Amino acid sequence: MFNFNFNFKLLFTFLFFFSGTVLATEMTVYKSPYCGCCSAWVKHIQAAGISVKVIEQDNNDQLRKNLSMPTQLASCHTAIIDGYVIEGHVPVADIKRLLSEKNDIQGIAVPGMPASSPGMDVEGNNDPYQVIAFDKTQKLRVYNQYNIQ
Ligand code: CU
Ligand code: CU
Repeated sequence: MFNFNFNFKLLFTFLFFFSGTVLATEMTVYKSPYCGCCSAWVKHIQAAGISVKVIEQDNNDQLRKNLSMPTQLASCHTAIIDGYVIEGHVPVADIKRLLSEKNDIQGIAVPGMPASSPGMDVEGNNDPYQVIAFDKTQKLRVYNQYNIQ
């Protein structure tokens, strides 16, 4: 006998796992409610088709610590996508590259707030800046760089 009940359960289980993989590309951003450049960066991410959930909190120090982020990488906002940590005004192209690679990177960061990075976009500013990758042992390496002559 054909068991409808069982097959529906199986179908819903499949749908659940499938939607789970799709939703895994949602980004959660932790930012201060008073930060304008954070919101500008969120728009930069959304414009690339990534959905963003914003959580407002005054301070990300404890969060960064929990995420094993070296303190010198700190910027104005901290985000998590697909298990990776994204700190500061990281260009979305680097985030997409990170998501497409499978490696042992814990996260990538643009330390401080370079005036030429996405969401800062100070007109006419071409300051060079780097995207730094870090792993769980807090080892750093240059992941990408911009405006380097
Ligand atoms: Cu900022
Ligand atoms: Cu920010």
